[in-house]
Amino acid sequence: MSVFLSCVAGVVVFYLILYYNVFRGGRCTSSAKLTGKTAIVTGSNTGIGKATALDLAKRGARVILACRNQEKAEAAVYDIRRESGSNEVVFMQLDLGSLKSVRSFAETFLKTEPRLDLLINNAGVMGPGRTEDGFGMAFGVNHLGHFLLTNLLLGRLQQCGPSRVVNVAALLHRFGSVDFALLASQKDLVSGGSAWHSVRAYCNSKLCNVLFSRELANRLEGNNVTCFSLHPGVIHTELCRNMSLWQRLLLIPVAKLFFLDPEGGAQTTLHCALQEGIEPLSGRYFFSCALREVGAKGRDDGLARKLWESIASSLETAATSHLNSLWLGWLGSLMIL
Ligand SMILES: NC(=O)c1ccc[n+]([C@@H]2O[C@H](COP(=O)([O-])OP(=O)(O)OC[C@H]3O[C@@H](n4cnc5c(N)ncnc54)[C@H](OP(=O)(O)O)[C@@H]3O)[C@@H](O)[C@H]2O)c1
Repeated sequence: MSVFLSCVAGVVVFYLILYYNVFRGGRCTSSAKLTGKTAIVTGSNTGIGKATALDLAKRGARVILACRNQEKAEAAVYDIRRESGSNEVVFMQLDLGSLKSVRSFAETFLKTEPRLDLLINNAGVMGPGRTEDGFGMAFGVNHLGHFLLTNLLLGRLQQCGPSRVVNVAALLHRFGSVDFALLASQKDLVSGGSAWHSVRAYCNSKLCNVLFSRELANRLEGNNVTCFSLHPGVIHTELCRNMSLWQRLLLIPVAKLFFLDPEGGAQTTLHCALQEGIEPLSGRYFFSCALREVGAKGRDDGLARKLWESIASSLETAATSHLNSLWLGWLGSLMIL
């Protein structure tokens, strides 16, 4: 009996040590109030995005849930309004897998909303398929859609500065790479459609998030818009919904035991969005509410610049000319291009 009890106690202690040292993340300690400020959170009908939107609403921000599915988003608006006690929570349609939808969202937003203080590029997908414009799904949604969205909204962010762009990346960016030849020929960073390719495509798209943050910060240097990327931790959300049944069955017990809940998973995003004094760290990467070093490729400024330029030319002609007119118009005065 005593051996059995010792084993149980050992397992519990091992679990607690592992949980508190590896899985449990830091907490955002900012007490910032956001009354009069406006935030966009992409992919905020569920998971980390919904938890982030709820926290921002509780702080008094006007929060735009930028989501693709109206029914799910309206249910989230209802939940967040009820929990936060704020009516300043609204849904706006955004499908990051459609460049047309991204442009239409930006147009509506710029026409109807006078402010933008926080842009939280949170939406993410891990799975097969192609976007409406023929790009690989993970690359198209996680990076390209956010790239276009951010550029279309930069002028408003600048007008409302100091403002921030927060890109939710992932630790898995460390395993990512960027194959420019493949991107040019196949509109994707991987070739093939197996589950393994989906994971690789996800890693690559997350490296793009990190590189995008770095290059954006470089282009915005000395400006009142700052930009951060982050790993939110390992969180029990719907991100793995495209996994096969047996993969999910294996994952669920581990997730229940070790993974953070979405509220815990939103903490580093909130830290990057709200923490005072981190502005000089623009372009850098955070985890567990603290500055972290990115993988070697994520620190490569040449790669970041090349990716930016390659993406700008990947966008269809109409998008590129629209982007350039806004981008050049805004940046011309800064002479940083
Ligand atoms: N969970 C983790 O352990 C983990 C770890 C590292 C990084 N992350 C990152 O954290 C972010 C949030 O993920 P999560 O874990 O909260 O996953 P989630 O629960 O699956 O939420 C993802 C959100 O993105 C939205 N989305 C997907 N495709 C979209 C599109 N084409 N247009 C607009 N929105 C779209 C989803 O909308 P629908 O509900 O309509 O599909 C959903 O609202 C992602 O960027 C993910 O890569 C998560």
